[in-house]
Amino acid sequence: MAGGSDALRRGLMTMRYRAYAYTDEADRSRTLEEDVRHGLTASPKSLPPKYFYDTIGAKLFEDITRLPEYYLTRTEAALLEKLAPRLMRDLAPRDIVELGAGSAAKTRRLLDARNGLPGTVRYVPVDVDELTVQASAARLVADYPYLEVSALVGDFEQHLSHVPPPVGRRLVLFLGSTIGNLEPLSRREFLLQVRALLQAKEDRFLVGLDLVKDVKVLEAAYNDASGVTAEFNRNILEVVNRGVDGDFRPAAFRHLAFYNEAEARIEMHLVPHRTQEVNLRRLGLRIALSPDESIWTESSYKFTRASTEAMLEDAGLRLEGWHVDADRYFALAVAAPSR
Ligand code: SAH
Ligand code: TRP
Repeated sequence: MAGGSDALRRGLMTMRYRAYAYTDEADRSRTLEEDVRHGLTASPKSLPPKYFYDTIGAKLFEDITRLPEYYLTRTEAALLEKLAPRLMRDLAPRDIVELGAGSAAKTRRLLDARNGLPGTVRYVPVDVDELTVQASAARLVADYPYLEVSALVGDFEQHLSHVPPPVGRRLVLFLGSTIGNLEPLSRREFLLQVRALLQAKEDRFLVGLDLVKDVKVLEAAYNDASGVTAEFNRNILEVVNRGVDGDFRPAAFRHLAFYNEAEARIEMHLVPHRTQEVNLRRLGLRIALSPDESIWTESSYKFTRASTEAMLEDAGLRLEGWHVDADRYFALAVAAPSR
């Protein structure tokens, strides 16, 4: 297995499933400590969104995908279903790499379209959330006899060089508009890495993008009436508390999400109700917080066809297919290597 001596091989659950973790527990806690120290001593204060996804966060995210206001998941699922026969039968990938795969619920729309065809497919989900990846991989090998799963537990911004070499025509998936959660500079670095995963000119990158639209529709999706998104947002403080022995009281923070039109992004923040101090014991750090300085927990950038084309081109990718729903809420873009 490619990946170097720090590669830690984990759990051989069935003959068709294996998982590799490129970080161990100690490594992960060190990274979290550095990220929290850096984010909370910077101005503005921020926390990296990958820490939303502990077991509770992953569950809350699944709840978000089913909210009436959160049109993204169901719109993307319908688009995938329509595109699936063309992708799976005509492109006929032998190697599917999915970044930020999560529960891979939508991936099934693609996999279903390949049932009954000869040959096998290797599926490589990449996700920081080990438990979700394991559970979903186990179900996938049970449900799709043609599938072999080689999961990579890691950060898609750090560990893409550990994706095993392709075993045939490759399709890289990046769904859920997770690309919108990357800031422009890191997004470019990331896309260059994705470009490197495409090694043959027939290889393709399929990316889901939430589109610029009516501000009311956008803001409602991140301010649901039942408060699930607020709970998801506050849960990051529980993850931080555990990681650095902190005493954040999540209930002392208000969820704030709004559309920043100039930057074409939803911004999610946590705003303290009143002035307070938190103690992050493992970091030996006390942080003063006040209602006029929020903690920025996530951006969710929104795209147009033109902005997508430009961002892909910048990373050596050419927009080949553009599939949108009737409301033009969401797009699936298919990209090919441009050089
Ligand atoms: N693809 C699924 C899940 C999207 S939620 C869907 O479309 O519904 C985002 C997923 O990306 C979560 O499973 C989270 O654990 C994972 N994730 C977030 N940041 C990550 C990072 N930096 N590296 C790897 N996985 C990440
Ligand atoms: N990437 C999706 C989005 O930007 C999903 C997501 C990530 C999300 N973090 C979120 C949705 C927080 C709601 C709240 O919409």
